[in-house]
Amino acid sequence: MCGITGYVGKNNAIDFLISGLEKLEYRGYDSAGICVTNGSALKLCKTEGRISVLKEKVFSFDVSGKTGIGHTRWATHGMPNHLNSHPHLSNDKKFAVVHNGIIENYSHIKRMLADRGFEFASETDTEIIPNLLQYYYNGDVFDAFAKTVECLEGSYALGVVSAHQPDTLFAVRKDSPLIVGLGDNENYLASDIPAILPLTQKIYILESGEFAIITKDDVKIVNSDKKIINKEIFKVTWNIDDAKKDGYDFYMLKEITEQPEAVMKTILPRIKNEKIDLSELLLDDEFLKKLERIHIVACGSAFHAAVMGKDYIEGISRTAVSAELASEFRYKNPIINKNDLVIIISQSGETSDTLAALRYAKGKGNKILSIVNVRGSSIARESDYVLYTHAGPEIAVATTKAYLTQLYVLMLFAIYLAELKDVILHEQYLCLINDMIQSASQIKKLLSKSDYLNSLAQKFIDVKDVFYIGRGVDNSLAMEGSLKLKEISYIHSESYAAGELKHGTISLIEDGTLVVALCTQKKLFGKMLSNIKEVKARGAYVIAIGTEDMNDLETEADNVIFIPKTNEYLAAALAVIPLQLFAYYISLHKGFDVDKPRNLAKSVTVE
Ligand code: G6P
Repeated sequence: MCGITGYVGKNNAIDFLISGLEKLEYRGYDSAGICVTNGSALKLCKTEGRISVLKEKVFSFDVSGKTGIGHTRWATHGMPNHLNSHPHLSNDKKFAVVHNGIIENYSHIKRMLADRGFEFASETDTEIIPNLLQYYYNGDVFDAFAKTVECLEGSYALGVVSAHQPDTLFAVRKDSPLIVGLGDNENYLASDIPAILPLTQKIYILESGEFAIITKDDVKIVNSDKKIINKEIFKVTWNIDDAKKDGYDFYMLKEITEQPEAVMKTILPRIKNEKIDLSELLLDDEFLKKLERIHIVACGSAFHAAVMGKDYIEGISRTAVSAELASEFRYKNPIINKNDLVIIISQSGETSDTLAALRYAKGKGNKILSIVNVRGSSIARESDYVLYTHAGPEIAVATTKAYLTQLYVLMLFAIYLAELKDVILHEQYLCLINDMIQSASQIKKLLSKSDYLNSLAQKFIDVKDVFYIGRGVDNSLAMEGSLKLKEISYIHSESYAAGELKHGTISLIEDGTLVVALCTQKKLFGKMLSNIKEVKARGAYVIAIGTEDMNDLETEADNVIFIPKTNEYLAAALAVIPLQLFAYYISLHKGFDVDKPRNLAKSVTVE
């Protein structure tokens, strides 16, 4: 959600500003812009729409300069148009600002500035910032910057250039992420690692309240009093090849295909001699043995992983779990005991609501264990304990491999906890571990059904409504399947606990309505068959997903996809793969930009 780039160095800033923004496209945006300076004037170029349009504009106007900032905007305050897109300029055109986040007290500041004669061209909250800089400027840009930031309430990652000091880039963050990349005779600013990765793997990750003063050959991290903060350089361990498309049309398909390796990288280092080893956690075993309640908090697909994780942990370790939406958690006065463990799940580690929920629980004195994909992200840094999913960089907005690896981490944790609490038979313990290890070949088997799912998807590109139904663990799988479809194909879809259909939703079933029935749970198979019959009797077209021994499915459903035989928990995890492929192919055949669905962002850094 919104991307920031910044450059100061020996070369034309435009090259990095634009190529960096392209690497951040996956975050979601609807307009883009850059501002460069090479002396006393700021040159601005921005546009509604895609970076390709911005590129054409920049080259046709021959904009160049050695210091600059760039931005992709995901509209919050005001329409996605030229006026609202960033960078924003001060009235005297001496300051330019890019901003991620939301300034909550902007209308009050806007009124104050307007009373002093400032004029505003946009509807954004951001435009107050360059004007505050102008207002406070008294010969020292940093001083004006520190005073400006002191006025701001809300969340922000800011990049600033000024015609008063054209060889310097200024930055600060609070809550929204921002990094500084360290180059050779050039330095970079970005809201996420992929932007700078082709150029350097050495970065500073700014913490809230830290300012960066960046020139061609120096980076100072300081506090608001300009006192130097000694920070360690963070070395990024993955490289740009991990984030390339490798010949795939879309990242989403590449990432779906990478799932066997992602799962194995996530679980194998944690299974030693047929035993789960989570010693990396440094979490006291005595604390876990006495643990009575866990709260898992997350957003989007990570929340769906939380709901399935609840079933894993409750089913296997008999520990009570609540799965909570991060956006609701801190506002509902949740009942959490000091001894409860709070598990935070996030691919990006930057989701604003999830981070706020983490801080809320931490403030209550709870221990925080996070399951995160991006190393060094805010959630990882602020948690007491972290279990990384080793899914590698995920670029497509719709998550696939990160979601699946989250399920496997939850499974590892559930089995580990069960053993500590002595509530699992050794035989079952070994079986579950063995099933996990078998997953790579089973995922590959499911990926080999890609052509079949492609042809099935082609049949349904014009459907208006789809219902995903399931029971038990399949209920949370239904949520994820339905979300995958709607987010990238724009087809209306809903998920329901299959047993709930008769309490209202069945009235929506008519001739040809598509129902995706998830039947991976053997003990609930008979009940699911009845639900399938009920919707078929009202004209529904049923695609069913079951395990290889469920022969009856073929006589009841119109199409069946079989999942290799495994335990009840992993069957539901594996079944997400055909659902991902089905959604992917529908979006592809509808001609959509699968990786960048409209209105959505990969990393949601505003509330
Ligand atoms: C966005 C993404 C989803 C993701 C959710 C939570 O909505 O499009 O794919 O599940 O954010 O993100 P997180 O990074 O916290 O897992």
